[in-house]
Formats: sequence, structure tokens, C-alpha cells
Amino acid sequence: MIRFVVAGHRAHSTADFKLDDIAGGAGRLDVLVRCVNSSFFLSHALRQDTELYLVLMGGTDPPKTVRFSGNELKYLNPDERSTSSLIRNALLKKLGSGETRASPGIYVSRMSFKDVVDSLGKISDIAYLKEDGNDIRTVQIPENITFVLGDDRDLTEEEETVVLSHGPERICLGPKSLHADHCIILVHNEIDRRRQ
Ligand SMILES: C[S@@+](CC[C@H](N)C(=O)[O-])C[C@H]1O[C@@H](n2cnc3c(N)ncnc32)[C@H](O)[C@@H]1O
Repeated sequence: MIRFVVAGHRAHSTADFKLDDIAGGAGRLDVLVRCVNSSFFLSHALRQDTELYLVLMGGTDPPKTVRFSGNELKYLNPDERSTSSLIRNALLKKLGSGETRASPGIYVSRMSFKDVVDSLGKISDIAYLKEDGNDIRTVQIPENITFVLGDDRDLTEEEETVVLSHGPERICLGPKSLHADHCIILVHNEIDRRRQ
């Protein structure tokens, strides 16, 4: 299983945004929506072996985490507007103590960044995507791995401390600082090449 955790530092945790304003009023939710596309879309299929955790830390009711599970996903289309709508619908759900299913393959919970990383650290290796890490072409990538990355901003010191407590491999994808969604594509590509 390949998992990605994206820290949405300002992304709205409430459904109070317009679908034509996801880059502004929704706290750069556009960045996270593009991460959904990069995580799951192949040319004619969805990646079944992938999960994506979007941790929403902005708006008036943070934190919330929206989890996308590739082997259950339905109704996911490549356009940003319809994916934003799926996320907005998830944020309308009444939440209990665990995860609530919003639509097939999409779950929402009150998990914080620390909750998510700590829980995944118990069931998989953690990798920290960072410009100053070890070249991805030189590192081992286990079958079961969780990659953690920032949105349009790097992880805060506090978030970094949470990730580092799991003794992650620090992985660099190349010499330039990239958009989060592009990082996900490059990780998938590297794993695709190794597993073909
Ligand atoms: C858009 S970047 C964040 C801001 C960026 N570090 C800057 O200074 O402009 C989003 C995230 O993608 C990851 N990232 C970007 N470029 C990377 C690279 N070359 N190697 C590994 N991770 C990278 C990091 O986790 C980063 O926090």
C-alpha cells in the first residue's frame, strides 16, 4: 500500500467555500485537490493500491482529515470542481469519534496531523518528502509506505517533530522545489518503474 499524507495548513475544515473559489476562500484547497488527482488517476483507471490523507487545518472547525481509499473510490473525476464538491460534501457530515463515510472511498474524521501520522507510523514505514533528503533513486522503498509532505507550505517545526519521531527516511525527488501534486506523481512513477 502506498499512502500520502498532505498537511493542508489553511485548507478549510468546514463546507463554507464556493466551488469556484477553492484557491482563495477555501484556503488553497486547490493544492489538495490536485493531490487527489495525482494520487489516483492513471490514463484509464484509478490506482487501487493508494490512499491519500488530506489534513485540513484551516477554517473554523479544524482539524479534520479526509481520507481517500483507492480500492473503494467511485464518482471521482479528473476535474478539480467535482473533487472539491466531494470534499465539501464530506465536510457537511456529522462526525462522531471515528471515521464517517461520506461517499464510496471517501471518509472524514476529526483526526489531526499528529493523529494521522502516528496511526500510520504503526502500520507502515514513514517517508518524509523534503528537498534536502536522500535521492529517491538511491533509497529502498518498502511495499507498505506512507509519504508525508507539505501543501504550498513546508511542514511546521511542530509537524516536522511528529514525522521525525517515526524515524523516517528523508527523501528528495530532485534538485528543484516542486508543487505537492507533482511530488506525488514522481513518487508513483519511481515505484511504478521498480514494480513493473
Ligand atoms: C510547494 S512545496 C512547499 C514549499 C517549498 N518548500 C518552498 O520553499 O517554496 C510542498 C512540499 O512538497 C515537498 N517537496 C517539494 N519539492 C520537493 C523535492 N524536490 N523533494 C522532496 N520533496 C519535495 C515538500 O514536502 C514540501 O513541503
